[in-house]
Amino acid sequence: SKIRVALLVGSLRKDSFNRQLARAVERLAPDDFSFDHVRIDNLPLYNQDFDPDYPAECQRLKDEIKAADALLFVTAEYNRSIPGVLKNAIDIASRPWGTNSFAGKPAAVIGVSVGAQGTALAQQHLRNVLAYLDVSTLAQPEVFIQNKEGLFDADGRIGNEGTAKFLQDFVDRYVAWVRRHG
Ligand code: FNR
Repeated sequence: SKIRVALLVGSLRKDSFNRQLARAVERLAPDDFSFDHVRIDNLPLYNQDFDPDYPAECQRLKDEIKAADALLFVTAEYNRSIPGVLKNAIDIASRPWGTNSFAGKPAAVIGVSVGAQGTALAQQHLRNVLAYLDVSTLAQPEVFIQNKEGLFDADGRIGNEGTAKFLQDFVDRYVAWVRRHG
């Protein structure tokens, strides 16, 4: 059976570079890996009053995370940190207390921004949050990508040869990391 990766994108924008990056990276993975795009745009803002009777959409998110063998976060950087929509989804799936859906899963964090530091600070903050949630994140290679003309080709693949090679190396390391946690 396939290894299932829950893919969380930290941007709701229709033409999100991070969603494009997620799709391009997905195509670099071997056939026994399947990627489930986890929906986070229809969640309420987390409220601790939910806990005794969790809303259906929040429970659906928890179930999708729980069913995954591994996690892949592909996130934008907003004001040098994690976009609120992604942090909200993480807060929801981490609760009610004692039912953290992320616990024990292997993960990686990557991202693309228009700025030169390529989401490095958002990723650092996200790694902190994930460590607390008992998620083991792949340390290297770090994937900080700056969006430039031609990053994606007309087919949605990585258009730049050096970047494509770098991302293939990332995917190979991620796949090995996930298999090791199997
Ligand atoms: C940004 N952007 C941005 N870029 C960056 O490199 N560092 C940052 O701190 C920020 N901060 C930021 C805040 C807000 C509110 C917005 C809307 C944007 C720019 C960001 O990299 C750019 O909008 C990307 O296109 C966002 O990623 P998606 O939506 O294309 O995946």
